[in-house]
Formats: sequence, C-alpha cells, structure tokens
Amino acid sequence: MAALRATLLGAALRSRAERSPELRERDAGRLADPTWFQHPGQIGYVCYADRFAGTLTGVADHLDYLVELGVTYLHLMPLLAPRPGPNDGGYAVADYGAVDPRLGTIDDLANLAGALHRSGMSLCIDVVVNHTAREHPWAQRALAGDPAARAFYHVFDDRALPDRYEQTLREVFPAFAPGNFTFVPEMGAWVWTTFNDYQWDLNYGNPAVLVAMAEAILNLCNIGVDVLRLDAVPFLWKRLDTDCENQPEAHWIVELLRSLVAMAAPAVAFKAEAIVPPEQLVQYLGGHEVPRHECDIAYHNQLMVMLWSSLASRDGRLITHALSRMRHRPPATTWMTYVRCHDDIGWAVSDEDAAAVGWDGWSHRNFLTEFYAGEFPGSFAHGARFQDNPAIGDSRISGTAASLCGLDPAGDPAGVETAIRRLVLLYAVAFCYDGIPLVYMGDELGLRNDLHYLDDPDRAADNRWMHRPAMPWEVAERRHRPGTIEARLFGWMQRLGTVQRRLAALDAAAPPEPLAVDDPHLFAFTRSRPGEERFLAVANFSEEAASCSTAALPFDPGEATLLLGGDESPAVGGGRLTLPGLGFAWYGFTPGSAAGTGP
Ligand code: GLC
Repeated sequence: MAALRATLLGAALRSRAERSPELRERDAGRLADPTWFQHPGQIGYVCYADRFAGTLTGVADHLDYLVELGVTYLHLMPLLAPRPGPNDGGYAVADYGAVDPRLGTIDDLANLAGALHRSGMSLCIDVVVNHTAREHPWAQRALAGDPAARAFYHVFDDRALPDRYEQTLREVFPAFAPGNFTFVPEMGAWVWTTFNDYQWDLNYGNPAVLVAMAEAILNLCNIGVDVLRLDAVPFLWKRLDTDCENQPEAHWIVELLRSLVAMAAPAVAFKAEAIVPPEQLVQYLGGHEVPRHECDIAYHNQLMVMLWSSLASRDGRLITHALSRMRHRPPATTWMTYVRCHDDIGWAVSDEDAAAVGWDGWSHRNFLTEFYAGEFPGSFAHGARFQDNPAIGDSRISGTAASLCGLDPAGDPAGVETAIRRLVLLYAVAFCYDGIPLVYMGDELGLRNDLHYLDDPDRAADNRWMHRPAMPWEVAERRHRPGTIEARLFGWMQRLGTVQRRLAALDAAAPPEPLAVDDPHLFAFTRSRPGEERFLAVANFSEEAASCSTAALPFDPGEATLLLGGDESPAVGGGRLTLPGLGFAWYGFTPGSAAGTGP
C-alpha cells in the first residue's frame, strides 16, 4: 500500500514538474477561478475531428466556425490511437500516448489546444478508462502469456465465474456483442468484455492498472487538455451478485485520479460519462452523503431522455416530476445539458416516475421506441431501433436530432417548420436548464441521418453511425443565406447562447426548480438567487397553443421582460400565459422593479 501511494504520488509530482510554463499559467488562472465551467456563457460543441474537418490541423483551421457559433468548449470525440478495423468509434484504444495517425500527432493536439485557448475555448478529450483494445500492448503481452499483463484484465480459465456474474449483469450491446465475456483462444480463457469483444475491461483490483491509467491520464493533461471525459466510468469495479455498475470502488478510483490530477494539473477538470439512473448519477459529481471531489461535470442524461419523451407524448408532466425529484448536484459542479450525442438514446424512464403521472413505465418506454423508430401511427420521427433486446423487451434509438424531430426538407413546408420548432424547443431548454449546453455537431444545421456507414464493413453493424454524419461544409455555407433551414437553426443556436451568456440568473448557484402548472403540455421551471433577477422558462411540447395560470409562476410574465421567445411570441392576459404550439419563452424579472429588467 505504501509503495502504491509512493508510486502514484511520484507520478503526479513528475507530471507537475514537466508542466509547461503556458500550462502553469493556465493552472494559476483556473485556481483563481476554479468553477470556470459553471459560468453562464459556457457553450459546448462536440464532434469527431475527422468528420468535422479531416484532421486535428483541419479542426484548427475551422475555429472561426466555432467562434461564430459562440462555442467556448470543444469536445473532440476519441482521438487516441485506436485498434485497426472496427474500434467502436475510437473507444478501443491501442495506445494512450499517441494520437490516431489518421488525425495527426501529439504535437498537432498540443497545437490545437493552444489555438483553442487563444480563441477562448477549452478542449475536452476522452479517456477510455474502463477498457483497452485487445491490440493494446498490455493485452498483447497478456495474449503472449505474460502473467503480469494477464492480471491487467479479468481473465477466467472456465465459465464458472463468468456464468455467475452473468446472472446479474446487463448486456450493453446485446445485438452485436451479446454477453459480457469473450473466449480468447490464444489464452484458452474468457476475458471480461462489457462492450465489444475487442474491448477488454481493465482489472482495477490490480494496483498496477491504477498506476498505468494514472500515468496515461497525467500525460494527457500535459498536452494541454482542459477536460477529460471519463468514458463508461460506472463499470470500473466488478462485484459478484451485483450488476457491476456504480460500485463504491468505482467512485474511489475516480476520486483518487481526480486528486492526482488536482496536484499535477489543477487546470484540468473531469467529466463523467455515466448513463445511469439519477440517484446514482449525482454520485459521480461527488454527491454522496458526505460530498466528495469526484467529477466536475456530468452528462444530464435524465434531462435529455425527458426532453425526447415530452416531445413524443406532447406532455410536460413526466419531465416535471422526474426532474423535481432529482437531487441537486453538489454546488461546485455542473451538468452538461444535451439534446443529442454520438450514442443511442436509452429510455431511462423509471417505473416510479411513470406511475406518478399515471402511466405504465414499460408501455411508455415501448411507446418511445416505437415512436422514434417511426413505427407508431402518426409519428413524425425518422429514427431506428438500436440493440433490440427482445428477452427483456428493451430497445434504444439511433438518429440525428433533426431526423428524430421529423425534419424532411423535401417534405411540405409546414412540416419543415414544425420540425425546426421541435429542435429549437429542445435546445431552448438545454441552453438554460442548468449547466453547459452541448451542441452535437450537425444539429446547428439540421443534419439528418447519414446512411453512408452501411457501405463501411467496419461500421455497418452499428447504426449509431447514422447520427454521426460528416460535416458538409457546402451545406454549412447556407447558414449565411437567410430563410434556409441552416440559417434558421444556426441563428437560433447563436441567439440562445447570446442571451444565456448575459443572464446572471443562470449562474450555477441558482439551480432549476420545475413548476407544477395547470396545462399538461407545458414544462416550466424557474431559477433565481435571493435578491437577484429571477428567471422563468416555459416550453410547450404540443403542436397546439397551450396556456397556464400565471398564479403558479414565480412572477407575472406580464410584468417581466421577455428575454427570448420562439418564432411566435407568447401572450399574457386574463391571468394566463399562452404559448404557441411548440413555443417557448424565457422571462427575466428583477424583484422590486415593477416592469422587470432585461439582460
Ligand atoms: C461510452 C461511449 C460509447 C462506447 C462505450 C464503450 O458509452 O459513449 O460510444 O460505445 O462507452 O467505450
């Protein structure tokens, strides 16, 4: 134990000593403003470097586009050297110390980080902590029979233990990678593979794994990244008779890595990718009985799922209930509020939440799948099922946000209009709910499903590629042509960011409070800090106009400032606030000022 402590401490101190003068300066800045990621005006963008601009240098050449959009935080999808062949979109890393040669070099990455910093943006990259590719040297040594390397993974000589574990494990990719163990003939043994058969889960019960991953992380910090996205973090620790997710040790590991990074590279923050129920999710932000310093940022999966649920059901009651009962995140942390990402959407709607609004959880989840797969009568969505698991009646959804909203430029103009409103509505909530709104590449242009992945044998089996299109720069040019879909959506994203940036009420110290309103189609919430401007957002998920009594709102919108409304303005009269179909409104009100104040 003492040796482990000394090794980890040594790694952190070595890394600190090697930090460049520029990064030390960045450390000093972040230490003076440790919750920089909480400020209103942080706007995120996420893309694959190659699909956005070919290479890392290509990304650096397109920073003007991001600046134009108002982006301050760029998440580049996995960019470290992956295995050849299928690699789960880069989530099968063969070398944590090298960039994928197709994208560039470590120097290119460092240069890009510098260029982003000079443009006022921070850089987030992925660290795949749960598993390596079977092509990683650790796995290769294990395959060659090295017992120390074999101990880096969970390896079983027979099926006895795997079979016992399987009894309580879920399957992440039941369709193309069933089960959680893969027989490896070279070793005559079974290896734990939660995801694909070429992604080998690391054994964090082995201190050498912790040291090796800590060193990999510390090296990445010194390239100049600002945020590390810890991939699949709930899976880090295995325990018999459990689902092997969210185990206490997984949190200790994150906490330990976090403190090493705090010593070596204080400018660097951690972001958790933990797609788990809300009660477990806040724990990755350190929200335990006694708060702890774990991740600084986490994806707000619950908000994302509830937004899509509300859009399909035209009903705001479930989102109101589910978000009201969620525990607040610890004060020094924040959410990543998103509408779409590179993954599928899994219907994280609990039976309890559904029952609270009088629905059956299973039926609602099933409805959402059918709806977004375009199977439900009258559905507007053009998505597809992902990982159908008939054994447990579960299925998830693929598709771009625009396609899930029913955008079809070749269709009738009214339909296009409605689809744009849907997409803007979802982002209008994501931009003000709580945290860093994240624009998923292409949503700002309304990019639709891209079926080219079917021509690539390494990708054809995984329909998540349908919502990972390449950036069509000629289409992006249309953002400057007024009236086009691209100009409308891009303009909306810019406006949402511009207004959000000016609103003190959207400070992280003012968490959202969902409001019970008297129209089921609406979702409303407020944010405020004592004595300061109060904020109110109302969203109408129905295509028809809907209204609610202003008595349930924290202030009368008639006496407040409309900060932002959809394409058609809301109306206040007779004690009711009326929103047009798929409309939204952001209001600001300063207590004591009769007319309210604008931003
Ligand atoms: C995360 C990624 C997902 C990947 C998985 C395995 O959930 O977001 O794309 O398939 O981890 O690395």
